Amino acid sequence: MKTITLTIDGKRIKAQEGEKLLRVALDNDIYIPNLCAIEDNPEPLAACRLCFVEVEGKEKPITACTETVAEGMVVNTKGEKSLRLVRTGFELIMASHPVDCAHCTKSGSCELQKIARHIGAKLKSRQLRQLQWHLPIDDSHPLFIYDANKCVLCGRCVWVCRRRLGIGVFGFAHRGFQRAVTTFGDEPIGNSRCEGCAECISVCPTGALVFKDGEEPKIKTGDKAHSK
Ligand code: SF4
Ligand code: SF4
Ligand code: FES
Repeated sequence: MKTITLTIDGKRIKAQEGEKLLRVALDNDIYIPNLCAIEDNPEPLAACRLCFVEVEGKEKPITACTETVAEGMVVNTKGEKSLRLVRTGFELIMASHPVDCAHCTKSGSCELQKIARHIGAKLKSRQLRQLQWHLPIDDSHPLFIYDANKCVLCGRCVWVCRRRLGIGVFGFAHRGFQRAVTTFGDEPIGNSRCEGCAECISVCPTGALVFKDGEEPKIKTGDKAHSK
């Protein structure tokens, strides 16, 4: 594979041809907000729309998780145009999120908290009307809890579970505002064909999927995009 050189936020970086810009930035300790990217997935989901950056020569901001690096590329992760898009996207996500960090197992390692800090935003939107679903919490599994209220629809759990089981335990249901991640037929996870591998827990960026005992996930499969 050919090595190329690019610049991100003024830092000259070496990368391998074909690598995605988000991965290269994170590997070089340059944080770009991201919720849906998974390192192992060759076809980025590009669902969260939070990884916008500006690239010299391109008129509009682009998503770093889908962009392949190129020789001589000059990237700005802090441009006003891209930050505006990221802030708007984040506010939309948070408008339907129950911000209850004081009682959330994920607090301290939650990607939403990290993104809020990074872009200088509040977790609770002041501009948008809050929309809460008050969905039931599924605690039917012996190991973990699924709180759909805290799900940001990133799709990471759907992807890792499908890769492991073929037809995974989780899937997307409904459209528009009703869109949700759930099990086939909405059955309790404890009744599903879940093998308890906990890969979904390790990739979930929020407190939606957490261990019952409050443990941090120990396995690290495909979660590099949010572990930096
Ligand atoms: S998922 Fe994150 S933002 Fe939401 S309540 Fe838990 S710690 Fe707070
Ligand atoms: S449960 Fe977690 S990993 Fe799955 S879609 Fe929701 S936020 Fe993403
Ligand atoms: S759209 Fe790029 S990380 Fe989600």
